[in-house]
Amino acid sequence: MGSSVANTKKQILKMLYDNQDHFLSGQKICETLGCSRTAVWKHIKDLENEGFIIEAAQKKGYRLVSSPKGLNEARLSIGLETERLGRRLYFFESIGSTQKEALRLADDGAEDGTIVITNEQVSGRGRLGHTWHSAKGTNIAMSLILRPDLPIQKTPQLTLLTAVAVTRTIEEMTGLSCSIKWPNDILYQGKKCVGILTELQAEASYVKSVIIGIGINVNTDKSAFPQDIDSRATSLRAITGKEVDLVPFVQLLLKRFEEIYHLYLKEGFSVIKLMWESRAVSLGKRIKVRRAGGETLEGYARGIDDEGVLLLEDNSHKVHRIYSADIELS
Ligand code: BTN
Repeated sequence: MGSSVANTKKQILKMLYDNQDHFLSGQKICETLGCSRTAVWKHIKDLENEGFIIEAAQKKGYRLVSSPKGLNEARLSIGLETERLGRRLYFFESIGSTQKEALRLADDGAEDGTIVITNEQVSGRGRLGHTWHSAKGTNIAMSLILRPDLPIQKTPQLTLLTAVAVTRTIEEMTGLSCSIKWPNDILYQGKKCVGILTELQAEASYVKSVIIGIGINVNTDKSAFPQDIDSRATSLRAITGKEVDLVPFVQLLLKRFEEIYHLYLKEGFSVIKLMWESRAVSLGKRIKVRRAGGETLEGYARGIDDEGVLLLEDNSHKVHRIYSADIELS
């Protein structure tokens, strides 16, 4: 679909949203947007195919009755309050992995702030070669493309920053206080509800792009979790018993992310570090670290350094700097 056609559809939807309590005449829509009645009718049919229920009455016009439950491109753009983040948005009804697509788009030169988001992700990628399960129409699976002017060694900080933005959004949308397990698993009472995967495209010491993949179990039904992860995973709906509207959730997340990211670019990591530490579960505790090759280390999590790297003190008081690993409380 051409972008001006897509824009007209978004504008029609916005007009319908703003006038939900009454009918909006086809004539008024045509005059406001400078398009034909047939074009309006076609866009209305398109919106109906996407799951919007629109009442049409002769001589009165159109009225929005209800919106589809899952994510929807037009709805995501309406009311988005960010400056850059999500202004260029690639939306998919279904995709293998938003992360793979974002890496491809970044390679092709996609601009800073571009996001890739989907209603269904069928082969989601997790950290350390794990897979990420995300049931259709109920969860958030998206990848952000950033092009920060940062040295490579500082990029783990972006992962921690993301975890802060996500926990904040969850707090505001649901009232739940989640905790963060280094580096970026978000847990509620020990069960994981969010996974974050940060990947880099770099040349020598220069960062070309950072792709941040965020998977959030929002409305997943308890029964939808595969058996092997059922005891370790949860969703926001499973915790609160309430369904969350995905569109305002994503919009708020993008807004909070952008605010915290700007703060970070202006003031540096120290303020983000404090926000992260106030939500961290593992600090000061005895933990077991499992690195990608299977090597394990045990000791006390002494904190994170100014680059966001975990400091693990082993039994002989040697401090190891852990860049990437799975950890568990031991
Ligand atoms: C983890 O292992 O905890 C990280 C999971 C990251 C999943 C997200 S969902 C959106 C993006 N696309 C992917 O394929 N993976 C990430």
